[in-house]
Amino acid sequence: MKDLFPAFKYNLAQTTKFNAIQLEIEKAEGIYLYDKNGKKYTDLISGVAVNNLGHRHPKVIEVIQKQLDKYIYLMVYGEFVQKETVHLAEKLAALLPETLSTSYFVNSGSEAIEGALKLVKLHTKKHQVISFKGSYHGSTQATLSLLGEEKFKNPFRPLAPLQKQIEFNNPEQLGEINHQTACVIMEPIQTASGMIMPENKFLDKVRQRCDETGALLIFDEIQTALGRTGKLFAFETFGVIPDILCLAKSLGGGLPIGAFISSREIMNSLDNGHPLLGHASTFGGHPLVCATALATLDVLYTENYIKEIEAKSQLFRQLLVHPLINDICGTGFLLSVDLGNTGITKKFVELVIPNGIITYWFLFNDHSFSILPPLTITNEEIEESCAIILKTLDKLNSE
Ligand SMILES: Cc1ncc(COP(=O)(O)O)c(C=O)c1O
Repeated sequence: MKDLFPAFKYNLAQTTKFNAIQLEIEKAEGIYLYDKNGKKYTDLISGVAVNNLGHRHPKVIEVIQKQLDKYIYLMVYGEFVQKETVHLAEKLAALLPETLSTSYFVNSGSEAIEGALKLVKLHTKKHQVISFKGSYHGSTQATLSLLGEEKFKNPFRPLAPLQKQIEFNNPEQLGEINHQTACVIMEPIQTASGMIMPENKFLDKVRQRCDETGALLIFDEIQTALGRTGKLFAFETFGVIPDILCLAKSLGGGLPIGAFISSREIMNSLDNGHPLLGHASTFGGHPLVCATALATLDVLYTENYIKEIEAKSQLFRQLLVHPLINDICGTGFLLSVDLGNTGITKKFVELVIPNGIITYWFLFNDHSFSILPPLTITNEEIEESCAIILKTLDKLNSE
């Protein structure tokens, strides 16, 4: 094993590849991380779109502490009535369109997608799934079947049959969606490839083709939801409503959760002649996590963070002007800064972290680095962060 991974040498399995950051963090508060020497880092990646409220938001901590005084875990999902779980489902229903009224809670993004795919099978009795090149929907067997990059999934073949990947933003390929298609799954903005925006009403065109053929449309909003686009959900930005919505990451306010959400009618298909139920999950709907998710939604909904995202995003764009920056893609706080070159991007990330900024490149795009800060970042903190980024780019430019 390479010396790059000292933490993974002995008892801990290797859990990441590339050049693991390997920082040992003692404490995290707001947008800052502190290492064991007290050095401060600005978190511009939010644990990859998880900590949308930053670290240890006081209202989230308060709810966790209250819940710890009541109970942590009671019984496998669904056997008891857990108020926190019921309230979270009610809250989501109140925030979502009528056709997304019914939530099934699970533990992760991958499991949310798995659950959604199983629901589709039970509801439509079909199993052809269309996903998109350049997409990532998780790391389990079923989600790997959807993956849009062959080399990442090839070692696991054979995977699920009848899975097809078509090109994002290419309406000519939408003819692949036909009456055999059970569902189309996509992110409204492709995150793993570097924040690729839908162009020329592409989402409307996918929606229309699904309606023509009877295929269900699943939106994976595991990264894009909870305020990053300047709306609570990215689909609101584009005015296209999916049949099934998958959430995870930021919904748990830092604790693990996933959810697949649909209409009551579609969700009832989980009971479609199945001897148990279409999906089961020991920790699904965990009361502590659901209480935290409720607090997260409450803070996001009642405070001004989401309204300020567009202006703060523009501030990043105004400040991040440099000869090494080719382009900035994405929207809101889903930004990808294109340095045009893999080597420079790797060097940049390696230099900027010791300079006090946490960022990273993308799974399928190693010539860009990401800007996914907590929504709570202030204008002053954005200015300070951009000054460090520009100084680091200057250093690279002078080499
Ligand atoms: C868009 C998207 N979908 C699904 C997943 C899988 O989520 P998890 O890692 O919680 O299983 C991820 C994780 O990065 C993701 O970014």
